[in-house]
This record gives sequence, structure tokens and C-alpha cells, in this order.
Amino acid sequence: MTPIRIAVTGAAGRISYSLLFRIAAGELLGPQQPVILHLLDVEAMDRVMQGVALELLDCAFPLLAGVTTTHVPDEAFSDADLVFLVGARPRGPGMARKDLLQANARIFAEQGRALNRVAAREARILVVGNPVNTNALIAIHNAPDLDPRQFSAMTRLDHNRARSMLAARCQVPVTAVRRISIWGNHSATMFPDLLHAEVEGRPALEQVPWDWYVNTFIPQVQHRGENIIDLEGRSSAGSAAHAAIEHMRDWVFGTPQDDWVSMAVWSDGSYGIARDIVFSFPVTTRQRDWQVVSGLELDDFCREHLAATEKELLEERDAVRELL
Ligand code: NAD
Ligand code: LMR
Repeated sequence: MTPIRIAVTGAAGRISYSLLFRIAAGELLGPQQPVILHLLDVEAMDRVMQGVALELLDCAFPLLAGVTTTHVPDEAFSDADLVFLVGARPRGPGMARKDLLQANARIFAEQGRALNRVAAREARILVVGNPVNTNALIAIHNAPDLDPRQFSAMTRLDHNRARSMLAARCQVPVTAVRRISIWGNHSATMFPDLLHAEVEGRPALEQVPWDWYVNTFIPQVQHRGENIIDLEGRSSAGSAAHAAIEHMRDWVFGTPQDDWVSMAVWSDGSYGIARDIVFSFPVTTRQRDWQVVSGLELDDFCREHLAATEKELLEERDAVRELL
């Protein structure tokens, strides 16, 4: 089988340290598909990145057909078919993710241009570096020869958090929970929506008190990132790498028939959301393509939350106008 080239940025960082080994072990593309890993980090992290590359080789992974390291985006993205844009500064205690916009936005403009020049023409590109939605928008605008649908940003961690919290509350395995939706921005305005969720095939909102949904579940999902930073002194990495693998795996192989996932994608105006922002929707995927789940009835409670998170994304877009 021809190896697939996978580029990972921020290769010397914490998320990548979980992600790279799992990809090389076959957890992304399965036990038959060889991969070549293209590692990118800044020049100052060159030695660390080289060490990570040696560790990957030391595992003697049967599926790992090669590893390259570089600090030059055009080299890292050359013919890359799947791309994880992880490299960006993480927030620390007391910061909002959008406080990272000024520090990180230019990375995504530069990398968008490099992807435009050299990535495989059918590449699929996942943005993990915060603030994910607006960084993805910047990359899209700087890659005019690629289809905006080839980019997406990660809200799968929020989706997984919501699924796990609902399962715990209902005392069922996570596999009994379906049709969770994360709408909007990967920020404190995100809307983790249970209106259409099901637990053991029955409506979730018939199985949990409204008060728990509004005053516990929603804020806990919205603020789980801070919660982890408070406890660990640094942002989530193991759960983030896992979510990145699941997000890309589902994008490539498709979602199950009776469920959907949450992905932040270039808004096509679905549900009246403004176009040209990267907004998290419930989506189904098939053969490397995604579709926003259509026809969901939204009540006033949902609409209010969607409007708040859309407003924040429009403000973030205004703040980076010069990069679009
Ligand atoms: P980290 O600081 O451990 O690693 C980041 C790495 O990126 C560093 O090695 C750094 O040198 C590198 N980097 C910086 N600028 C770069 C550039 N221009 N090109 C290539 N590499 C560059 O951080 P981390 O914990 O791995 O987190 C990475 C990002 O992911 C952060 O922005 C964090 O907030 C974000 N994150 C997102 C989610 C999510 O759910 N979407 C979850 C967790 C973390
Ligand atoms: C998360 O949700 O854990 C990440 O986006 C990291 C953060 O800054 O919260």
C-alpha cells in the first residue's frame, strides 16, 4: 500500500507527543495503512523535534514508512494528504482562548499560504491550535486554491466531554449516548446542545432535569478547558490528541449511520448562521466530505445561544481582518 503523508505542526509540543505515536501505531488510518510523518516546529525547537523523531523510529512501528523534521512549512506540507495544524501557543491560567489571537493568527496565515502552494490538492486540514475557529478561517483565506471544505477546526473535544458528562449523569456507558451537538465557537460561548441528543434511544432531555442541563452541564462543557488548566497548570493534551484522531478518522472514513459528530466548518449559511465564519455544527461525514445535519428544529433557547456564539465569531473575524 502506498504510504499516506501526514503533516503535524507543533511537533515538539505536548499534544503532538500523544498524537504522533498513535498515528504511527495505526490508530488513525488502521492496521494496514503505512504513513510517512512530516514534523514541523519552529527552529528553536529543532533539537526537541529531532528527539521526538528518534523516539518514533525507536518504536519500530511496522506502519511507519518515514519521518521528516523541518522548520520550513513548505517542506513539511509538501504533498501532505492529511494535516494537523497543532503548532500554536496554548493559553495559561486566567486567559481566554481569543487572547491568543494576536500571538497565533499569523502562524495560520503563513501556513495557509504554504498549504496552498505545496499540499496535496485533496488534502484534509484540521486546525487544533487556538483559537481554532478563527485560525481556520485565516488559513482558508490564505489558501485560495484549496476548497474551504478541505479545512475544519476541532470541537470534537467538547463533543466528547459533553458525551461523557451526559453518560455519567444518566449512569450509562458513553456508547448509549448519541446525537450530541456542539454549536459555534470553541470558547466559553459554545453551545453544547442536548435538544436532539438521545440516551439509550430516548430523548436526553426527558432523562435529565432542565436545571442540571442549564446550570451544570452547559457551563461545565463550556469551561472544561479552564478547569483542566486550573488543575494541571497547562492545557489538555492527551484528550486533545485523542479528539484530533477521532475527528480526522471520522472525516476520512465516515460517521456511523445513526449518529453525527461536531466539527467546526466553513459556514454555508445553514441554520441562518453568517457565512464566512468557521462555526461548529452537527455534521455527518462520508468519503472525506462533510454535510451539516439538516432539518433540526431549534427552539428559542437554542437560537439565543447560537446568536451569542455567532456574534463572538464575527467579532473575532473583525479582529483579524488584515489577515483575511
Ligand atoms: P505546546 O506549547 O506544548 O506545543 C506547541 C508547539 O507549537 C511548540 O512546540 C511550539 O514551538 C510550536 N509552534 C509554535 N509556533 C509554531 C509555528 N509557527 N510552526 C510550527 N510549530 C509552532 O502546546 P500544546 O499543548 O501542544 O497545544 C497546542 C495548541 O493546541 C494550543 O494553541 C492549544 O491551546 C491548542 N489546543 C486546542 C484544543 C482544542 O480542543 N481545539 C485542545 C487543547 C489544546
Ligand atoms: C481545551 O479545550 O482544553 C483547549 O482548547 C485548551 C484550552 O485552552 O482550554
